[in-house]
Amino acid sequence: MDDFYSDTKSLPSKEMLEAIVSAPLGDEQKAEDPTTAELERRVAELLGKEAAVFMISGTMCNEIAVRVHCRPGDEIICDATSHLLNFECGSPAALSGVVLHGLQGTNGIFTPEDVRGAMRPASRYMPVSRMLLVEQTANLGGGAIWPLETIDAVVGEARSHGLVTHMDGARLLNAVAKTGISAARYARDFDSVWIDFSKGLGAPCGAVLAGSAEFCHQAWRQKQALGGAMRQSGVLAATCIYALENNMAQQSRDNELAASIGRRLERIPHISHMHPVDSNIIIFDVAADAPTAEDIVARLRERGVLLGAFGERRLRAVTCLNVDEQAGDRLVAELTAILGA
Ligand SMILES: Cc1ncc(COP(=O)(O)O)c(C=O)c1O
Repeated sequence: MDDFYSDTKSLPSKEMLEAIVSAPLGDEQKAEDPTTAELERRVAELLGKEAAVFMISGTMCNEIAVRVHCRPGDEIICDATSHLLNFECGSPAALSGVVLHGLQGTNGIFTPEDVRGAMRPASRYMPVSRMLLVEQTANLGGGAIWPLETIDAVVGEARSHGLVTHMDGARLLNAVAKTGISAARYARDFDSVWIDFSKGLGAPCGAVLAGSAEFCHQAWRQKQALGGAMRQSGVLAATCIYALENNMAQQSRDNELAASIGRRLERIPHISHMHPVDSNIIIFDVAADAPTAEDIVARLRERGVLLGAFGERRLRAVTCLNVDEQAGDRLVAELTAILGA
C-alpha cells in the first residue's frame, strides 16, 4: 500500500529500533532515566527553552499545557480548525474546565485583529481570556505555515492583553525545513511549545513539551497526575533521539514531494479547489459531479493507495517516510484514472 493517510503511520526503521538496545535506562518517575533526560535536554535546546518534559503524545502536551496555564472558567483563543478544539475529545473542558473560542482564520491562520476581537472585556460574567494557541503548521489548514511576522503580531497582541501563549508544534519542523527559520525563533515568544516525534520524524510515539523550568516542573506534576509518568521511558526516548539525529532532513523531502504532487493534482479535472501546499499536507476538494470523498478513498484503496476523507468532498494526503516519488506518481495516476475522465 502507498500510505498517504497520515504522517503518523510510518513504521520505525530497523536502525531506529536498534537504538533502543544500547540506550541507558532508569526510572523516569524518579528522574533517573538518562536517555529521557538527554532527549529533554536536546529538545529544550532545539526550541530555545529552559527545560522540557517527555510525554507519550502530542495530545498530552496540549492538554497538560492547558492544565498548567489555565483555571476553570478560562477561555483559550485558537483557530476553529485546531487539533485542540476538534480532536481531543473536548478535554480542555473535561480536564481543565476551559472554554475554547474558535477563530475563523484562513487555512488555520488568524490575525492580530482576530485576537483583539476575541478578547473578553473585564466582566463579572464572562469567561476570562487566558491563553492563545497557535498550531504550526496548521493541520486542517492544509499544513499551512504561519509566517513569522504573523506569529510575532498575534503573540504581541496576545501578550499586550496579558495572555499566555502556547504553540502546538506537531509539525513545526516541517515549517523549519521549508523556511530555514529555526524552531527556537518560531518558539521564542511562546510560554510553551512542543514537537511530535510520531509524525514526520518517524518514531513510534512520543512528544516533548518545553518551556520555563517552573512551567516544566508543573507540567511534570500534571503528567504524574494523569498517569502519564513512565518508568524505563528511555526505550521510547532512544527512538526519538535517533529521529533527531537521522530523520531531520526527511521533512524537506516530505515537503518537496507534497509540493510536486500538489502541482500535478491541480491539473486533474474535477478537483475543484486545492489548499496551498506549504509543507507535507495536501488538502483538496472534488467537484459536486465527482464521486464523494468516501467513494474516492474506497476506490483508491482497491488500487493500493490510502488517503483520508475529511468531509463529503474534501480529501487529505500526507507525505512522510512511508512514501517516495514513485508512490507520489501512483497517487497522481490513480486519482487521474478515477477523476480524470
Ligand atoms: C496539529 C496536531 N496537534 C496535535 C496532534 C496530536 O498528536 P498525537 O497524535 O501525538 O497525540 C496532532 C495529531 O495528528 C496534530 O496534527
